[in-house]
Amino acid sequence: MLKELLAELDAVTAEAKALLADAKTAADVENAKNKLTGRNGALTALAPMMGRIAKEDKPVAGKAFNEAKNTVQAMIEEARERLGTSKVSAEAIDVTLPGRRWPIGRKHPVSQTIDECCAIFRRMGFVVAEGPEIETVKNCFDALNAPIDHPSRDPKDTFYFDDGRLLRTQTSTVQIRTMLAQKPPIRIVSPGRCFRRDTPDATHGVHFHQIEGLYIDHDVSLADLKSTLEAFANEFFGDSVAIRMRPHFFPFTEPSVECDFSCVMCGGKGCRVCKNSGWLEILGCGMVNPNVLRNVGINPEKWQGFAFGMGIERLTMLKHRIGDLRLFSENDLRFLKQF
Ligand code: DAH
Repeated sequence: MLKELLAELDAVTAEAKALLADAKTAADVENAKNKLTGRNGALTALAPMMGRIAKEDKPVAGKAFNEAKNTVQAMIEEARERLGTSKVSAEAIDVTLPGRRWPIGRKHPVSQTIDECCAIFRRMGFVVAEGPEIETVKNCFDALNAPIDHPSRDPKDTFYFDDGRLLRTQTSTVQIRTMLAQKPPIRIVSPGRCFRRDTPDATHGVHFHQIEGLYIDHDVSLADLKSTLEAFANEFFGDSVAIRMRPHFFPFTEPSVECDFSCVMCGGKGCRVCKNSGWLEILGCGMVNPNVLRNVGINPEKWQGFAFGMGIERLTMLKHRIGDLRLFSENDLRFLKQF
């Protein structure tokens, strides 16, 4: 019986070889496969012979049967491979093709400016503090010494909620929050979004970003403020930028100052951007009004300080020569990809 089986197995292997050598198409290969290992295939037909093999011959018979089966299967796979129809070759990856580039995002230019400003002020010892965009009238106006008839309180200029809260119009709110939460000395910068009921145009939007600075300590003077702002101007725009201060009014500072930077477009010679003045209005600042300190329980006899606030979009527009504020919120990738 063993001999017969071995002979039959040899015959099937030989048949397989012949069938597959002749195969010219994928269909030929599949036909050959059916004839060999299919349900009624030659090899399948030999399986019942196994049952009739003498017990002592079984290991040899089983081994031979498996070998023949493996050989036939390998030949089938080889033929498929040759004709390009094997599962492996059909799914194969062409490693010579260029890879698919994974698009890498980047920070919004406004976020880049915020990061840069924070980094500059951190190097001068300021800590970043943040506050919420929804605020109370107390934090946005009252505690900041805004007179009751100050125009910025008007619902025509400010977004109010029904419960009396509002969308903050300035990051100065974080001064109040910080001074209520911690004792001086305080040295913070606070970047964030602000909201005003403006009609959007190239330089106005209903939301924009500011960065606020506050320094409270013993013996802080206007000279400290000026040197801090000068250092910032030089770090942000370059060493050739000069600053100047002009008297102004803000409720939360006394004296109040408007700070200009020499025009970063023309170097101060005069151009369209600086309206031929050579100077750009950049920020408001001053010495913290003693009333503000009293409002948060800090003794103005012992402590004083300076504060400043500037617009992030304006800084970004000047740095990158962007002509229209609305580009920042349109999410146009052709614009955003440039930064
Ligand atoms: N909050 C002012 C504004 O939105 C900017 C400002 C001016 C902030 C003077 C200050 C400051 O801290 O001292 O126009």
